[in-house]
Amino acid sequence: MKTEQLRHLRRAVLAVAGAATLILGLAAPSQAADPVLRDLATAKGRYIGSAATASELNISSYAALEGTQFNSATPGNEMKWESVEATRGTYNWTGGDNLVSFAQAHSMQVRGHTLVWHSQLPNWLTSGTFTNDALRALLVKHVTDEVTHFKGKINQWDVVNEPLNEDGTYRASLWYNQLGSSYIADALRAARAADPAAKLYINDYNTDGTGSKSDGMYNLAKSLLAQGVPLDGIGFQGHLIVGSVPTTVQTNLQRFADLGLDVAVTELDVRMTLPATTALLTQQKADFKSVVSACLAVSRCVGVTVWGLGDATSWVPSVFPGQGAANIYDENYQPKPAYYGVAEALGWTGTVPVPTASCAVTYGVNQWNTGFTASVTVKNTGTTPVSGWSLTWTYPSGQKVTQAWNATVAQSGTAVTATNVSYNATIAAGGTQAFGFNASWSGSNPAPTDFKLNGTACS
Ligand code: XIL
Repeated sequence: MKTEQLRHLRRAVLAVAGAATLILGLAAPSQAADPVLRDLATAKGRYIGSAATASELNISSYAALEGTQFNSATPGNEMKWESVEATRGTYNWTGGDNLVSFAQAHSMQVRGHTLVWHSQLPNWLTSGTFTNDALRALLVKHVTDEVTHFKGKINQWDVVNEPLNEDGTYRASLWYNQLGSSYIADALRAARAADPAAKLYINDYNTDGTGSKSDGMYNLAKSLLAQGVPLDGIGFQGHLIVGSVPTTVQTNLQRFADLGLDVAVTELDVRMTLPATTALLTQQKADFKSVVSACLAVSRCVGVTVWGLGDATSWVPSVFPGQGAANIYDENYQPKPAYYGVAEALGWTGTVPVPTASCAVTYGVNQWNTGFTASVTVKNTGTTPVSGWSLTWTYPSGQKVTQAWNATVAQSGTAVTATNVSYNATIAAGGTQAFGFNASWSGSNPAPTDFKLNGTACS
């Protein structure tokens, strides 16, 4: 009761703080600021969350965005069984407690993730031999102890994670193999008993749109509800691929909501085959926007959580080789088009800032009496990739390019233009491309001072 009153008080204080910020914002209209996702979500009656691991919270840019842009946090790993009980009988709550403290300090709610899963289990559990009764008792004890430890601090628990195969049947796991599907109901009952106020979820991936796996989840949810098992919501992870977001997300979420359940997008990221190009990032914006919009179109969709907020620390490249750039902030914690897609879905109507190209050029020559070889490296110092490039400069002292490699070089009088070839068209944010050429000179051979990348002057 007291905690609930405190929460209301905190919300009221926040609302006042929010109003003050708004007034300040109006007083200084010339200062274009990025939208605050949590304010937009709150205005829509939803939350917007982001996962964070302990090490991510140690990155100041990460923590700053986590605590200001989002009003829900999910621990990336710190509440998983291998994290909390690596040694049988010895609990380590430090990572989870720190995440909860961070969330409370920033007026965020917490999604507990996750109590029963086939993955990230401690060795003593996966390599041990247990009778069925002993295993069931271990499961119930784990759920009870963890939910009790965090009681009153967790808004939603992913009680069971990823119980299904792609065809909608039960996934073979330590739990299913020995206990059958009843482990799911047991875990939910234990969680309810330990913290009656927490909303209890089953969470899975590739259930975002309609299909066999989603049908399996639907049937599971329906049968649990019919048996009176305490189940409050279904989590849809939303680990998606650029340009391949299912078109049925809204329809799918709605059918679960129609069972009387809450629904939430719990781990949204939209990966692409690297390198990121402007076209892919534009598609990614549309993809994030469509998922958030689908949630908003379903009144029981309580919120959306993104699985990490910046590309620098995403789990994607390690699990899907060659893929990445799946998040709404880039490697340098700058907002990507996808961030504005989320904001637009949440009702923001501002103008998406056009990123200005910025570049640095290194120019070196090896010269002899009449000729020289030049090596040029162009670096994209901006935060978005450059796809397709032209580097221009002038040769006021009469130098003439005769032959080039790794670029097509054209010269008209003193004006020179080097254009990418097919295999080096993209310069990743922070990345470089290099090319070279032979040229002639006489008199003097000064280095150019006026390099421009796609029309923008470089340093
Ligand atoms: C991932 C974490 O992000 C990684 O740091 C960890 O190495 C593996 O797990 N579905 C889930 C999450 O439910 O717990 C997973 O998180 C990503 C897929």
